[in-house]
Amino acid sequence: MNIADSDEMMLQLAARGCSPCDSLKEADIVVVNTCTIRDHAEHKALSYLGRLAKWKAEKKGRIVIFAGCAAQRLGKALRRKFPQADIIAGAKNIDSFSDILETSGLFKNKNVAAGIPSAQLVGLVNIMRGCSCKCSYCIVPYVRGEAASISPEVILKETERKVAQGAKEIMLLGQTVNAYNYKGKNFAKLLKDITNLPGLERVRFMSPHPIFIDEEFAQVAASSDKISKHMHLPVQSGSTKVLKDMKRLYSRSEFLQKAALLKAAGICLSTDIIVGYPTETEEDFKDTLSLFDEVEFNGAYCFKFSPRQGTPAAALPLIPEEIVEKRLDILLNKVRLSSKAAYEAQLGTVQKVLMETPTNGRTLTNFWVRTKTKYNPGDVVDLKIKETKETILLA
Ligand code: 5AD
Ligand code: SF4
Repeated sequence: MNIADSDEMMLQLAARGCSPCDSLKEADIVVVNTCTIRDHAEHKALSYLGRLAKWKAEKKGRIVIFAGCAAQRLGKALRRKFPQADIIAGAKNIDSFSDILETSGLFKNKNVAAGIPSAQLVGLVNIMRGCSCKCSYCIVPYVRGEAASISPEVILKETERKVAQGAKEIMLLGQTVNAYNYKGKNFAKLLKDITNLPGLERVRFMSPHPIFIDEEFAQVAASSDKISKHMHLPVQSGSTKVLKDMKRLYSRSEFLQKAALLKAAGICLSTDIIVGYPTETEEDFKDTLSLFDEVEFNGAYCFKFSPRQGTPAAALPLIPEEIVEKRLDILLNKVRLSSKAAYEAQLGTVQKVLMETPTNGRTLTNFWVRTKTKYNPGDVVDLKIKETKETILLA
């Protein structure tokens, strides 16, 4: 989602005569697009912003734009601490980024209709913004606001535009992408419309929430070989008690039912897991480990719980760090082994690979494949998997 937002900001800057460059040395403007989902992400962004003071002082007229979720959360407090930030544009302001540039006065007389970023093979399309789920640990609803779906006409037009510019794959984006609903048009129906667009090879989406997975969606996903057969479906915990505390709105067994429905539709799964949520006991953690085995996830992103100011979970006492570290280690080992098994299971199979570079592409199940033969990016080729490396299949 941040990449899509960065693209949007780049378009607005391009319309004012700016073009991308490769190094800070050459640049006149730096846009720091930030994340605040965990404390670590925010720290990284702020320390980068701190270092930009030197860059800015080196040449007159340099501009720093601090954007995204951390900018949204910290807002005006940033101005005092980081005077090097000329423009602060929060994540909620992305639609009015053009106005923000105008009112800053920094881009006067710079309008030229040129320099639009080049076409991409994978086109990112936002279909909704914000989130209304309010999971107890999560800051997203506070920095991105309530969920709002974009009209299907706008989405289809944007998709057609990207396909016409050369996109072979479309990635639909939303914080809870499958909560999409615009005047009764739900995610399954939108997905069906998108697969009917000519010239489009594949559709993926990120990130779905388990509560919005239903039969209708599973049927649509199974019925089209344009729809990705991999889904990143965050579970967060395998314990019904912790899931309830997290306000995830499903139990362990309900998640297992949804996972079974998806698997029956030919979809393989990866997930997100939070370790060390304040109410997580040793038993709860074991439930997470057993759920991981039961679902046979292909992979997982595992995070230590990070208290985010203003969220309900931030008020709870933390689990000692060494316990969290130990649990994370155990889980990461398990994830590594299952990922290895998932890669090895592809050996000897023939996969339809959508080439993203002359030698690298993705299977419909989202495995990254490398081949010695060179193809044109955008080609879909049948490749036999001969070898596996840790995060790549060799054909
Ligand atoms: N602490 C740790 N992980 C978090 N996530 C969201 N909020 C937090 C938090 N406070 C993780 C969830 C989510 C992913 C994008 O980030 O697993 O799915
Ligand atoms: Fe955060 Fe996702 Fe929960 Fe929304 S559904 S509050 S984005 S974790």
